[in-house]
Amino acid sequence: MPTIGEEISRALSIGKARGVLAVDLRLLIRANEGFKDQMDVFLHREDEMKEVALFRAQVERLLAGEPVELILGEAGFLGHRLKVTRDTLIPRGETEELVAHISQIVPLRWDARNFLVCCDIGTGTGAIAIALKSQFPNWIVSGTDISNPALEVARENIEREGLPIRLFHGDALEPLIRENMVADIIVSNPPYVLSPEEAQPSVRDYEPSSALYFDPEDNLYEKVMRDVRKVKKGPLLLAFEIDPGLKDYLDGLMSRYMSDYESTYREDLNGFLRFLFIYMR
Ligand SMILES: C[S@@+](CC[C@H](N)C(=O)[O-])C[C@H]1O[C@@H](n2cnc3c(N)ncnc32)[C@H](O)[C@@H]1O
Repeated sequence: MPTIGEEISRALSIGKARGVLAVDLRLLIRANEGFKDQMDVFLHREDEMKEVALFRAQVERLLAGEPVELILGEAGFLGHRLKVTRDTLIPRGETEELVAHISQIVPLRWDARNFLVCCDIGTGTGAIAIALKSQFPNWIVSGTDISNPALEVARENIEREGLPIRLFHGDALEPLIRENMVADIIVSNPPYVLSPEEAQPSVRDYEPSSALYFDPEDNLYEKVMRDVRKVKKGPLLLAFEIDPGLKDYLDGLMSRYMSDYESTYREDLNGFLRFLFIYMR
């Protein structure tokens, strides 16, 4: 039987030039060999690999462009391990930044220990809702999605985390309006990739198009801004993740639908305009 170190070298010799990353191999080996954390992969590199056939099949999937998160069936998000499937977007680092920004902005406007009502529109795996509810246990957090299969995954993740988060099926703010809910914070990471050509093949081929692509005629940014007054009772924060190319479009939506508000765009850590925060008085 080859050792773990030998199998890593073999996989990298075939795959490095084709984008296979050592970090992905480590994630797979940790799961396959039952190690507690990734450090154990280094510590046991001289040991025989138990799951050689499984690992080699997984390397073939990586070579075909499949994201490691889908091979493992889970992704990390701010310390949470979330189930992901072909029906959900794989949560991204930028969305972790969105949660971090919200955690900073909300205490500037509210006492964050209050029972603030927060809804994650287009919740996917439930990543944003789970991270915010964990960080602010007093908040009343819910999530919505138009995709029932995605909501099933969110439900599993929420149950696994043991968090009281309600989920609703429906289009944009329609479930909140239907339930007569009002909100203090609405957060959304809508589909915002401007065209399939802009997406990397691993994204285009493996993640659901309903979670990816922006439609100028039918999109969450417009629906949320159009209807937000129906779920507003006091000051309300709208927090969006965005594509930098949407700035002019979003400025247009704000002038059309918003009044008595302050807005700020923020960049992500890579220097791209990635977030829009709108505070409605
Ligand atoms: C970019 S993904 C974000 C998923 C998750 N919030 C995250 O950040 O990882 C967008 C999500 O919005 C959902 N969605 C798309 N259009 C929607 C709509 N009109 N109403 C509600 N959800 C929608 C998709 O099904 C998908 O789960």
